[in-house]
Amino acid sequence: MHPALLLLSLTLLLPLAAASPPHHPSHFSKHRRNTTATPQEYIEVTRPLPFDSLNPSCTLHILSHTFADTVNLPPITANYSPPSNCTWSRAVLHLSGTSNGSQYDRIAAVWLAGVELLRTSTPGPTDDGIFWNVRKDITKYSSILRQSNMSLAVMLENVVNDVYIGVYRLDFTFLYYDVVSNGTAIRKLKNNPVRSPNLKYSLELSENPADLIIPISASGDEGFWFRIESETDAVVKGIQIPLNTYRAVIEVYVSFHGNDEFWYSNPPDAYIEMNKMPTKRGHGSYREVVVKLDDITVGSVIPFPVIFTGGINPVFWEPVVSIGAFDLPSYEIELTPFLGMLLDGKAHYLRLGVADAISFWLVDANLQLWLDDKADKVQAQAVQYSSPTCSLERESKFEMLNGNFEIEGKRKSEFTGWVNSSAGNFTTYVSHELKFENTIEFSNNGTEKELNQKVKVTDKVKVTSNTGESILSNELERKYPLKITTSTLPGSEKDTYLMITKLENSIEEETSNLNFTSSLENSQKSEGWMVVKDHDVLSGAATSVQSYGVEDSFGCYNRRVSSANGYITNDKGDLLCARASS
Ligand SMILES: *[C@@H]1O[C@H](CO)[C@@H](O)[C@H](O)[C@H]1NC(C)=O
Ligand SMILES: *[C@@H]1O[C@H](CO)[C@@H](O)[C@H](O)[C@H]1NC(C)=O
Ligand SMILES: *[C@@H]1O[C@H](CO)[C@@H](O)[C@H](O)[C@H]1NC(C)=O
Ligand SMILES: *[C@@H]1O[C@H](CO)[C@@H](O)[C@H](O)[C@H]1NC(C)=O
Ligand SMILES: *[C@@H]1O[C@H](CO)[C@@H](O)[C@H](O)[C@H]1NC(C)=O
Ligand SMILES: *[C@@H]1O[C@H](CO)[C@@H](O)[C@H](O)[C@H]1NC(C)=O
Ligand SMILES: *[C@@H]1O[C@H](CO)[C@@H](O)[C@H](O)[C@H]1NC(C)=O
Ligand SMILES: *[C@@H]1O[C@H](CO)[C@@H](O)[C@H](O)[C@H]1NC(C)=O
Ligand SMILES: *[C@@H]1O[C@H](CO)[C@@H](O)[C@H](O)[C@H]1NC(C)=O
Repeated sequence: MHPALLLLSLTLLLPLAAASPPHHPSHFSKHRRNTTATPQEYIEVTRPLPFDSLNPSCTLHILSHTFADTVNLPPITANYSPPSNCTWSRAVLHLSGTSNGSQYDRIAAVWLAGVELLRTSTPGPTDDGIFWNVRKDITKYSSILRQSNMSLAVMLENVVNDVYIGVYRLDFTFLYYDVVSNGTAIRKLKNNPVRSPNLKYSLELSENPADLIIPISASGDEGFWFRIESETDAVVKGIQIPLNTYRAVIEVYVSFHGNDEFWYSNPPDAYIEMNKMPTKRGHGSYREVVVKLDDITVGSVIPFPVIFTGGINPVFWEPVVSIGAFDLPSYEIELTPFLGMLLDGKAHYLRLGVADAISFWLVDANLQLWLDDKADKVQAQAVQYSSPTCSLERESKFEMLNGNFEIEGKRKSEFTGWVNSSAGNFTTYVSHELKFENTIEFSNNGTEKELNQKVKVTDKVKVTSNTGESILSNELERKYPLKITTSTLPGSEKDTYLMITKLENSIEEETSNLNFTSSLENSQKSEGWMVVKDHDVLSGAATSVQSYGVEDSFGCYNRRVSSANGYITNDKGDLLCARASS
């Protein structure tokens, strides 16, 4: 590559060098350890998959690749066909990775025929070497997984040079499980007392994977994600769906990078300009991914703040990575009430954009459709939609480097529409409510920063039959508060800084439907210090505690993991919670 080109791509991928005290959270790499210790496993704490203990009916090793200097290269691809003569109802994607030597964490994604299966990030390696495993239930993509001769694509942009030598070796395997005939948790789900003649329809709605998935993704030369650099950048994709679609859901994948990697802690531009700071991490701390159908806002997402392993203080994420780092959450938006519009035989457009974005975001989506196998055509009509804009209030007070910034936002949308398919005439009501609060306070001449963010989402989906019978009533409440405090002091050596940080990040989720409720509580608390020069961590120490608890139709799982200075100090998990579900 031409040297000038190399320089350009480096500045795109690597954080900008700090020319002054790091007032803002940043992205670091560490040159830690120089021992002959054996490679260590990095983990994201989640519940094992309900069918992990079963033997898969088939496995398919699809791809191994070492991602060295991959800037500007197209994704790595492999030809995919499902194993022949294999009976399966559940599928898992297993990623295993290894790396060693200094390197930044990197974002990566996996697509099958342009449909995103996994958005993930790598842990930052140590000299001793690290390895990790990610297992994701990808059953909801079954309709694509059952097709032959599809292209599987993996993107991971890595930069290797004299300083950053770490390469990433990734290995991908599909596992297929015949869960129903093995009879486990899924049967338990299906055996819920039948109380409605429409239960089959309701189970289908809540459990069956889509029949068709239309990717809302890029052409693929630079990965299938769209790169959004500003609030005016938008992805527009024309769609045409089969006339017998009776349900539609759009699933949005999103990650944030560069100057927006820590969007939730970016101060307003005025503060940065007034203080003549070199940082470009500004534009305030409100971002919202907005999905539009033609000109109607059909849904929006304030993403969960996934912190990559080089973020805030990398020692926090050794060897337990932050929530979502290995399996970034995706967000589903029910579009069924809009089928009346989509089925009118005219051209329609889906549009993805990020309000207030600065460079850069990687966004794409999967449009999941359920088709009526007994009819060529269904009738549908949108009955009501109200989708007010996000009401935002911003307050900004600052004097020199000290200041106080507050943003409060709120959005509530409601949609109703009916679909008359061979199963009957059902009306779907959807409501989506978003509440958002963000405060950033700089004190002590800007050397102390406190960030507080609260996001609350309430989603409701209700399906009723023509006779008024409730077929489905799903409610999801999700909260994700984040709190970070940082003090920055001059280090003992020239151009070094001591940063002392405390962080609390968590996700709480409650879902309920007609017959059961589930809950998830996942929280991480970390504190520690580090000495940095530019973006390198010279030394540091930290402790982290994560507690994870889930209770749902598959049962119950609790785990509490503590770590200190790169090693797990305590790890307790159990499958028998006090409030065991029957
Ligand atoms: C590892 O440490 C030894 C002594 O502590 C030093 O001589 C050597 O240069 C170090 N190696 C690297 C790669 O830093
Ligand atoms: C599950 O079913 C598969 C295929 O039918 C079989 O090979 C496997 O041994 C079963 N596993 C268990 C634990 O029963
Ligand atoms: C498929 O599996 C069945 C049962 O295991 C076996 O009898 C049959 O020969 C297999 N067919 C092929 C084409 O492998
Ligand atoms: C580090 O990676 C290099 C090159 O991939 C390999 O030769 C070496 O064995 C690795 N070292 C460790 C400790 O994994
Ligand atoms: C897949 O593609 C190959 C080569 O183009 C072809 O020979 C094969 O029949 C195809 N298989 C299926 C199931 O379409
Ligand atoms: C739609 O409803 C009418 C009358 O309610 C019914 O006769 C027709 O079969 C339904 N259409 C479909 C596709 O099921
Ligand atoms: C379906 O139900 C809605 C609401 O009850 C009604 O307005 C509509 O006319 C029905 N559609 C058909 C085709 O029966
Ligand atoms: C506040 O910070 C600025 C920039 O770091 C520095 O120039 C100034 O001297 C500091 N003021 C005080 C009162 O410490
Ligand atoms: C499902 O609902 C029925 C009727 O309300 C109730 O009797 C039953 O206990 C419920 N099942 C579960 C697992 O909650």
